[in-house]
Amino acid sequence: MYIESNLSIKNKVTEFIQKVPKAELHIHLEGSIEPETLMRIAERNKINLKYNSVEEVKKAYRFDDLKDFLNIYNQGTKILRTELDFYEITLEYLNKVSTQSVKHVEMFIDFQTYEKRDIKPEIILSGIKAAIADANKKTGITCYLILAFLRQLGAEAALKTFMNALKFKEDIIGIGIAATEIGYPPELFAEVFEAARNEGFRTTAHAGEEGPASYVKGSIDILKVDRIDHGNKAMDDLELIQELIDRQIPLTLCPLSNIALKNVAKLKDHTLKKKLDLGLLVSVNSDDPSYFGGYVNENYQAVASELQLSISDIRKLAENSFVSSFLPDIEKEFHLKTIKDLYEEVIK
Ligand code: HPA
Ligand code: ZN
Repeated sequence: MYIESNLSIKNKVTEFIQKVPKAELHIHLEGSIEPETLMRIAERNKINLKYNSVEEVKKAYRFDDLKDFLNIYNQGTKILRTELDFYEITLEYLNKVSTQSVKHVEMFIDFQTYEKRDIKPEIILSGIKAAIADANKKTGITCYLILAFLRQLGAEAALKTFMNALKFKEDIIGIGIAATEIGYPPELFAEVFEAARNEGFRTTAHAGEEGPASYVKGSIDILKVDRIDHGNKAMDDLELIQELIDRQIPLTLCPLSNIALKNVAKLKDHTLKKKLDLGLLVSVNSDDPSYFGGYVNENYQAVASELQLSISDIRKLAENSFVSSFLPDIEKEFHLKTIKDLYEEVIK
């Protein structure tokens, strides 16, 4: 009997990861700025960075936890000023992931970071939208936008930013909460989530990245979110896990982010495979790819190697990414069919 070697199976998994259509549902636009781009835009906008070279930027992309990371990430946002800046970083990210067979993206954008510098949402959005249109024309990739509020700025600020953003309703599919988790439990944001749901926005919340399982529970019970970002700590509450399974509430997992921010010690300890086997609707995402050592395919590859994922596991993760998305059913079905066709071709 022919026994396929481990190496040949590994190569097949790698090839399948590269080719399989995927959606990326958890990516912060500013987390995709590569050091080279950061330096180039800073120079163009005559902004003094504390770094003198790309190597120095790369060296600074190290952190001990979420707070430490957010400080460095915020420094990076200071280079952005113009429509062209937002256009270029969006296009660079979309072009990059197109080469990884990513067909659809749901991207977090942020208006609050720019309010104090008086960079208007109009400027941010027009750059981003132009890039999405150009990327779509070139590669067919689609991209929805999720307006994320910074928890540490509080609920009142979130509501104010939301009300101002209502005039861009056509351009924004949903809202979310991100940044500092601990100390800012989901219930603080009940009002803005209710207002958003009433206006027809879809909703997500970062929860259980650093914070406890109760933040995941609060996000689904009080904020009534469609999707949880991260959700790792839900594993501490088995009743909650059962609810997430029964209701098929998606969790957008970000394995390399969890390692970089030390929320998980080693990839071998990551609960992604366990969650997949339990029937949770989990997907693989990059969070902040230029900071955490990889785009979506590097995340798939890392968990595939460390958790010994099979081609059929990868298929399921890719399917989950579309099922968890905010795409219309007809588009979900189209992508699911292309995944099925590719899978059948590969295992023949
Ligand atoms: N976690 C929380 N908030 C964020 C992140 C993250 O990894 N990246 C940008 N905002
Ligand atoms: Zn995130």
